[in-house]
Amino acid sequence: MSDHRFDDITVESLMETGTMKWTRMPGHLAAFVAEMDFGTAPAVTQALRDSTDKSLWGYLPPAVAKEMSDATSEFLARRYGWEVPSTRIYPTADVLSAYDFVMERFTKPGTPVILPTPAYMPFLTLTPMRGREIIQVPMIEGDGGLWEMDLEGITTAFDKGAHLLILCNPHNPLGRVYSRAELLALADVVEAKSGMVFSDEIHAPITFGEHSHIPYASLTETTAAHTLTATSASKSWNIPGLKCAQLIVSNDEHQRSIKDIAFLVSHGAATPGVAANTAAYREGGAWLEDVLGYIDINRSLLRDLLAQHLPEFTYREPEGSYIAWLDARGLPDIAGDRTWAQFFSEEARVGLTDGALCGEAGVGHLRLMLSTPHHILEKIVIAMGDAVDRHRS
Ligand SMILES: Cc1ncc(COP(=O)(O)O)c(C=O)c1O
Repeated sequence: MSDHRFDDITVESLMETGTMKWTRMPGHLAAFVAEMDFGTAPAVTQALRDSTDKSLWGYLPPAVAKEMSDATSEFLARRYGWEVPSTRIYPTADVLSAYDFVMERFTKPGTPVILPTPAYMPFLTLTPMRGREIIQVPMIEGDGGLWEMDLEGITTAFDKGAHLLILCNPHNPLGRVYSRAELLALADVVEAKSGMVFSDEIHAPITFGEHSHIPYASLTETTAAHTLTATSASKSWNIPGLKCAQLIVSNDEHQRSIKDIAFLVSHGAATPGVAANTAAYREGGAWLEDVLGYIDINRSLLRDLLAQHLPEFTYREPEGSYIAWLDARGLPDIAGDRTWAQFFSEEARVGLTDGALCGEAGVGHLRLMLSTPHHILEKIVIAMGDAVDRHRS
């Protein structure tokens, strides 16, 4: 294990800081929400100090918005080789509101939305609130637990009248970082059905080992034309409460039609959050690499801890994101009529997300965050293992 400053962070200090992760489930070891326990980059904190010093808390000034669009454009080019004019990058409050805007503004009214599942939970609730059916297409678990998209299922869903597909890459909760070949195969299906893609790339900078993120819209002119992309510094720099994300418009027609209503999509973006995103993209690189190296160790640490304390769990190290997806279906039948998340909450005081909330394909699974100090991850797995052991006999 490493000897790192994050090792000095304690459960008590996290609870005292009072983040949502460490206060929503009092008395629990928290691993249920996509926040990190590592604070944020010094450059981000400095940007917030600067806006505080200037009391820059009014509506979003055009110059602050332009800086963010420029910084995002530079980051996309540097990190992924994707050249996007900054005039096509719009500040928005968050990825969820970008999705809402895209669904309402750019897809055929009332049409169903295709969601490969398991998926980030709010897509399953927001979409029906807009009077749209969600067509869940369960991902297929292949060899070695590698989950793949069901292209036939997606084709069938388009045939049922769907217009938009939600692509989440890197994938929450499965941790997949899709290869070029996988994305191109998906693109063929979408194009053949005259479909559209909302590409949720909020976890894009968080990839490990040989896996690197390819923005879907950057693949070909075709994917650029049928896609709207959303990303943010919010996950990678741990600032989702600052309310700023980016909507990236890669279709000329969309760009023409969005101009007059751009204020609507940008209205919720918080001025300090926009400045913080700029700082993260421009000056947060070293902090991010440090965090990624630390979380990378947790990927394999979790494997070792599970082998020792919960051998019935199946887990494949995430290729991207700091989310671990645990298959609990091999556990003994000890939870009674409780879900596994309820069982581990009540018996181990560990807060996890129940896989069923991620769609039908998630039943029997759990979502656990790796964005925590090594010693806390150890505590979490030991507490879970002890709870199972107590009920084994
Ligand atoms: C894949 C994915 N999409 C969207 C969101 C929500 O992001 P936002 O807070 O920007 O709406 C999250 C948050 O964890 C996420 O993991």
